[in-house]
Amino acid sequence: MSKTKVIAFANNKGGSGKTTTCSNVACALALDGKKVLMIDGDMQLNLTISYFDEEKALSFAESGKNIYSAIKDGVELTSCIAETEYEGLDLIPSSSLMSGIEFELFSKWQRETVFKKLLEPVRARGYYDYILIDAPPTLGGWVMNVLCASDYLVIPVEASPWGLFGLANMFEFTAQVKEISPKLEILGIAVTKADERKKYFKQTLETLKSMEGVRLFNTYVRVDSTVEWSQDNSVPVVAFKKSSRSAQEYTMLAKEIESYVNR
Ligand SMILES: Nc1ncnc2c1ncn2[C@@H]1O[C@H](COP(=O)(O)OP(=O)(O)OP(=O)(O)O)[C@@H](O)[C@H]1O
Ligand SMILES: [Mg+2]
Repeated sequence: MSKTKVIAFANNKGGSGKTTTCSNVACALALDGKKVLMIDGDMQLNLTISYFDEEKALSFAESGKNIYSAIKDGVELTSCIAETEYEGLDLIPSSSLMSGIEFELFSKWQRETVFKKLLEPVRARGYYDYILIDAPPTLGGWVMNVLCASDYLVIPVEASPWGLFGLANMFEFTAQVKEISPKLEILGIAVTKADERKKYFKQTLETLKSMEGVRLFNTYVRVDSTVEWSQDNSVPVVAFKKSSRSAQEYTMLAKEIESYVNR
């Protein structure tokens, strides 16, 4: 069996911190010497522009070296891999044409596992320790594909009054995925954008702690303006300012995720 572990970051709630968590956990793992491949599965290209400027991001879309072309035309995933400036950290970019991914998948044979089959040669090579996938804020055929291709699911939840909305749908959806892909494990919930001064922060944490059978990661990431500065510079905060609070929290979260995955 391949040593490569595939971890999806998904939550149908928009703006819950999926991309920022995926990007920083990936970079923290790479800075720790691991080989990591990130896959941008969202038409918003947020993960791609977390590492590359807009011009470069658009060039990936035009060259056909992106996740959409791979799914649509069966382009080999290995040919879509772009190296980031960090050692051991690669990325398969997205394309704005991902908006049409549901249509493309619809006509495919065994449409829930198209991506899983495409990913198989990359896994089989065993080069990467981790493959981290950033999912869009939807629950459809594409996210079904992402989860069917994954071993683990991390659900970033924003510590805000509306942060828990839709979480029940996420669990229902995961149960459906497990009917097709029983190996999928919900690794845990990662609380993001936490502000300990706010009353709802405690409430969110209490509600999540009381949920049976779902792990709440010990590490939560607090609101930190350095995150936005770093994103404005297309640099993950763990590399942008290592001494910042959020950089340290993402690094701890990466360690926690690793410890559960390698139990
Ligand atoms: N720890 C943090 N501190 C401050 N701002 C943050 C933090 N984490 C994320 N953000 C900001 O919150 C917004 C949403 O984060 P992000 O894009 O990671 O969420 P998402 O779940 O990927 O969103 P979408 O559902 O649109 O894909 C972004 O503007 C990001 O800069
Ligand atoms: Mg996102």
